[in-house]
Amino acid sequence: MPLETEARAELRALLDGLRPDDGDLLEALHRIHHRYGHISREAMEVVAERLRLTPAHVYGATTYYADFRTTPPPPVTVAWCSGPACRLRNANGIRAAFEAVFDCALGEDSPDGRVAFTLGQCNGTCEQAPQVWLQERVVGKLTAARAVELARALREGEDPETLGWPDDASGDGAGG
Ligand code: FES
Repeated sequence: MPLETEARAELRALLDGLRPDDGDLLEALHRIHHRYGHISREAMEVVAERLRLTPAHVYGATTYYADFRTTPPPPVTVAWCSGPACRLRNANGIRAAFEAVFDCALGEDSPDGRVAFTLGQCNGTCEQAPQVWLQERVVGKLTAARAVELARALREGEDPETLGWPDDASGDGAGG
């Protein structure tokens, strides 16, 4: 029986109300992922105990879904919108630009561990297409050149809160 630590107690509390067996397994994994940004081995053990499943079963479910991370996320997340309005406005070119500068494919972390490049779905802000979400903030009306600029700044360690462009940034007005 593993030692009861503060972390395990917190995980247990998070799973309150869930019933044994795998009917609530996905809900359990979502709750943990939402809270911690990933599902650690210890969290999988607690889920297995709480739902009376084998650790292997929980591990299998966790790793089956691409949305679940098993390691802590990098400090910066860029989510690429795969929706139709963005695709019509060169979202694939934007994606290629980010992948080239981040040196990783969509769904991976940059090798320096600074940035997670993830898949996003349309959230209804299509007037900003094509767009990404930088730390969940819309950065829209991107061009491939702007995507490269943004990606480089992030890899150089610039604060993501200071990056991006105003809603009406549509390509002019930089003034040289
Ligand atoms: S299609 Fe990208 S925000 Fe709607």
